[in-house]
Amino acid sequence: MTEKEIELLINLHKDADRQGPGSPEETKKALDLIGIDKNKKIRIADIGCGSGAQTISLAENTNSSIVAIDLFPEFLEKLEKNAQTLNLQERITAKAHSMDDLPFTDNEFDLIWSEGAIYNMGFEEGIKQWKRFIKLNGYLAVSEISWITDTRPKEVEEHWLREYPEIDTISNKIRVLEKQGYSPIAHFILPQYCWIDNYYRPLQERFSAFLSKYEYSDIAKDMVENEKNEISIYEKYKEFYSYSFYIAQKK
Ligand SMILES: C[S@@+](CC[C@H](N)C(=O)[O-])C[C@H]1O[C@@H](n2cnc3c(N)ncnc32)[C@H](O)[C@@H]1O
Repeated sequence: MTEKEIELLINLHKDADRQGPGSPEETKKALDLIGIDKNKKIRIADIGCGSGAQTISLAENTNSSIVAIDLFPEFLEKLEKNAQTLNLQERITAKAHSMDDLPFTDNEFDLIWSEGAIYNMGFEEGIKQWKRFIKLNGYLAVSEISWITDTRPKEVEEHWLREYPEIDTISNKIRVLEKQGYSPIAHFILPQYCWIDNYYRPLQERFSAFLSKYEYSDIAKDMVENEKNEISIYEKYKEFYSYSFYIAQKK
């Protein structure tokens, strides 16, 4: 991506409540499956946090201190503002870093969280590199795009293999977790409202302001076309893929 494309991508997404499919209810569900004692002080890393919708949910539902990591400071600024408004600023630290070069020490965290972001370095590479930062018997909770049926139409298969060759079935993702030394605890599929109501519809509502801000430049128009294409693929084939949450323990 060119610098200009990155600038536009950030601008298209930075004022959104979230930068990918998800919801506070599903974040809480994943937390409940881990069964964390709400009175126990824990340390969480939220990697690829974006503007931090799930970071806020994590802070509200645990007695934790959270380090929230994203590559782009523009997203972190919004998280910091929201944390202040909710008086959570003492417990949330936002840091701009790349997820493949994290400033952490071994066994630092009780829990590593990542919603809709690990694909940036690839699922297997991410869980492999992050494992050393989790305490023994600590947890990993990540959401990752996955096939939710055994077979699927060629068009959607080709689309996602082009976009993200590591897309796979849930059972194969669980095998990867086991291979990398994690014990799978639970998984569940994000419902469609997480995509449509919480992510795609608000994104569609921003298209026209975005296009006029960038004076209908070719880069802006291409970006909107790409997003529209992704949305139409989802609408057509939503029975075949979703994000799945994977919860696992470091053994
Ligand atoms: C699909 S968004 C998900 C954001 C947020 N977790 C959510 O669910 O709303 C992916 C996030 O990964 C971040 N990201 C992309 N590459 C990254 C990298 N190398 N290191 C850290 N964050 C990265 C993006 O800036 C973006 O915020």
